[in-house]
Amino acid sequence: MSLLITNIGELVTNNPAGSGGPAGPGPFASLASAALVIDAGQVAWAGPAARAPAADEAFDAVGRAVLPGFVDSHAHLVFAGERGAEFAARMAGLPYAAGGIRSTVAATRAAADDQLGANLRSLAAEMLAQGTTTFECKSGYGLTVRDEARSLALAAEFTPEVTYLGAHVVPEEYAADPGGYVDLVCGAMLDACAPLARWVDVFCERGAFGSDEAAAVLAAGTAASLQPRVHANQLGPGPGVQLAVRHGAASADHCTYTDDADVDALASSATVATLLPGVEFSTRHPYPDARRLIGAGVTVAIATDCNPGSCFTSSMPLCIALAVREMRMTTQEAVWAATAGGARALRRTDVGHLGAGARADLVMLNAPSHAYLAYRPGVPLIGAVWQNGNRAA
Ligand code: NIG
Ligand code: FE
Repeated sequence: MSLLITNIGELVTNNPAGSGGPAGPGPFASLASAALVIDAGQVAWAGPAARAPAADEAFDAVGRAVLPGFVDSHAHLVFAGERGAEFAARMAGLPYAAGGIRSTVAATRAAADDQLGANLRSLAAEMLAQGTTTFECKSGYGLTVRDEARSLALAAEFTPEVTYLGAHVVPEEYAADPGGYVDLVCGAMLDACAPLARWVDVFCERGAFGSDEAAAVLAAGTAASLQPRVHANQLGPGPGVQLAVRHGAASADHCTYTDDADVDALASSATVATLLPGVEFSTRHPYPDARRLIGAGVTVAIATDCNPGSCFTSSMPLCIALAVREMRMTTQEAVWAATAGGARALRRTDVGHLGAGARADLVMLNAPSHAYLAYRPGVPLIGAVWQNGNRAA
């Protein structure tokens, strides 16, 4: 059954006439008084409502805005436990440190598969209800061969965008032998995990993995047919961004502390800078300089980084509002970064836009334009969600 959604006040397509389509998202583009036809899980047609073709069924948007579903290209959803007390202590003045990850590792190792699966299912449902139709999910709270492999197998039940993050932090039992842990991540753990994942990631940071160790992880992952992405320059300046670019990573994530050489390297590469403003909100670090990155020609994505430590939000609308208010992105830039930008960061051409042939993943706002996501922060504006052509929320 085909479906015509008509009377759309603003249709964000990220697909200027004649571009996009099967090639993936183009620059931000939108149409007023628009309509869109969904057929067989795809966008069959998008254009002015007055010229819309007939379809089996019709849905009247009554002037509301329709956007591509959000693409959250960075999330850590396989974990047990929570760290609310750590957050509260941070808001009372303590700093965020990479070591907090270890408490979630202990809880995750102790959890049954069912418990991890139920937590993941509820976070995935939370995301969908807030308009996220594609999300990436990392391992990284298991840090044994068994626990990393089961994390990835669980993640794969919910998304094809599965990332092996055995190199999240050195677990306690390897504290005296970090080199031995890197060997495990690049050896037996990778052998068990590579068939279950699409991506390899490493937390390149003081307190986690240094440049040489991170390079070894990316090289081993790439040799095992995984594609690289990097946690880079989150807590201070460092080698992560340059490393990501050197390894042809799809994305360098965080980019909170970058210098001119980092920005130049990103600008002259295909590596997307994925900004995670919920982390700065939740850690009181300064926000990354999105204007400098965009001004230099860097492709910018926005994602949540949903995890129990540095940022426990699953809300792309919140991240869009933060990007606009705190990182001085325009409303168009922020919405593009949360849709098309995320698609670029995941090397996906079928999502992040609503050109003919795109996957019919869309969000209808209870508002007339995309700007309301930042104009009415904190208000539940998601009126309806279609995923793969099916009404999902
Ligand atoms: O992206 N940076 C490393 N990993 C997560 C934090 C994980 C945690 O604190 O549990 C992040 O911020
Ligand atoms: Fe992260």
